[in-house]
Amino acid sequence: MDDQQYVMAIDEGTTSTRAIIFNHQGEEVAIAQKEFPQYFPKPGWVEHDAEEIWDAVQQVMSAVMIKTGIQPYKIAAIGITNQRETTIVWDRHTGKPIYHAIVWQSKQTAPIADQLAKDGYTKMIHDKTGLVVDSYFSATKIKWILDRVSGAREKAKKGDLLFGTIDTWLLWNLTDHHVHATDVTNASRTMLFNIHKMDWDQDILDLLDIPKAMLPKVEPSSHIFGYTAGYHFFGVQIPIAGIAGDQQAALFGQGAFEKGSVKNTYGTGAFTVMNTGTKPTLSDSGLLTTIAYGLNGETHYALEGSIFVAGSAVQWLRDGLKFFSKASASEKMAVDAHTTGGVYVVPSFTGLGAPYWDQDVRGAVFGLTRGSDRGAITRATLEAIAYQTKDVVDTMVKDTGIPLNKLAVDGGASRNDFLMQFQADILQTPIVRAKIEETTALGASYLSGLAVDFWHDQDELLKLSKSGTQFAPVMSDKEARGLYEGWQRAVKATQFFTH
Ligand code: G3P
Repeated sequence: MDDQQYVMAIDEGTTSTRAIIFNHQGEEVAIAQKEFPQYFPKPGWVEHDAEEIWDAVQQVMSAVMIKTGIQPYKIAAIGITNQRETTIVWDRHTGKPIYHAIVWQSKQTAPIADQLAKDGYTKMIHDKTGLVVDSYFSATKIKWILDRVSGAREKAKKGDLLFGTIDTWLLWNLTDHHVHATDVTNASRTMLFNIHKMDWDQDILDLLDIPKAMLPKVEPSSHIFGYTAGYHFFGVQIPIAGIAGDQQAALFGQGAFEKGSVKNTYGTGAFTVMNTGTKPTLSDSGLLTTIAYGLNGETHYALEGSIFVAGSAVQWLRDGLKFFSKASASEKMAVDAHTTGGVYVVPSFTGLGAPYWDQDVRGAVFGLTRGSDRGAITRATLEAIAYQTKDVVDTMVKDTGIPLNKLAVDGGASRNDFLMQFQADILQTPIVRAKIEETTALGASYLSGLAVDFWHDQDELLKLSKSGTQFAPVMSDKEARGLYEGWQRAVKATQFFTH
């Protein structure tokens, strides 16, 4: 008889939802995935329907269980990892959201962020939350919903409305509306959480007129948050024992527990995160100070460089420009092109994140000639992902004084060998690609497994981690520098066009 137990991760991303089952060796046993609709009500706005997300989550949870035939009681724990910052406000009594989920990429609240900066709150907010003032984070999105939906603020004051990031929304639904909580990593992305005091910050709440009553309880990332209501899980109550925002979960899944270790996840966006240990390091160069994970009574911090457009630039080539029908075809197209012929694509479709933080700038293509074809533009788009990563990594090294010996990578676009080789070349640093593609989900599983003693400690987890292909730089330093200078000129020109 099979005595194995398993853990399940729910990875709720920006464009799709996955449920993945891992065994005790940290190996992926099965996966189910579902894409869900994106709504773009106005230029620059990005929204989701929170109920469609919840439906997709239930579907993938069932699908993965049915696929494996694993008995539900053999699932020792569930971990949740999620697209961060995306904001949902719902009615506590009906469970219905009062507005669409405003997605992290959405720009409708940029004027609120601009006003905060104009009014001189940048430093105060940075000191308390570790973040730059930007519409990316949840705070301005909550304010926007409370301002725009009639009667919402009054209801929120009375405790009738709840706010949550996606993790909170799923936890609340999985526990049949019993638990309203989040973890420290997700809280640290709201721009409302004081990362030193580890509590919601009353000054910022007052500034934005956000009632504290609507905020979730904040717990460590590895913690039993609650149990699934039986009918959501084949009649069995399973502990939901780990929650982390997807980038922090990927750091954990990479086994990057040591101070100074860095990972880059190439998803819809790309997010470079460095573990900086148990004390927060504040950056003067536009990197975010964020919480890496809360575990065993300790808080670990990280520095993060957020790149808003990475894999979604390849989707743009696929869906917008109709260059190919499968994103994976971009690799062959880029390789066959041999060169960009001097073309640079700046894919700043929703503004530029770190280290520029320019929410108004929009994308551009430079250096076109009569010979510039789909191959050249595809290659230049992939290269842009690598250039943006270099922008962030260079800033990180400068801010911390810790040199980068290698970059651990994961996420969908990390499977693109052309991109990884170019990344190694442009950084002049080896790239180590995680063997398992689903590092984010693995991180959430690890956190949940630790809370229920499925795994005992981080040393045990390190023994499980396996690295895959390595990419060593082959380009000369001189050539890499020349190409990168071209990118820097392209970014400057793009910003010049906007402002
Ligand atoms: O901060 C946004 C991030 O969490 C989204 O991740 O993987 O959905 O692009 P992803």
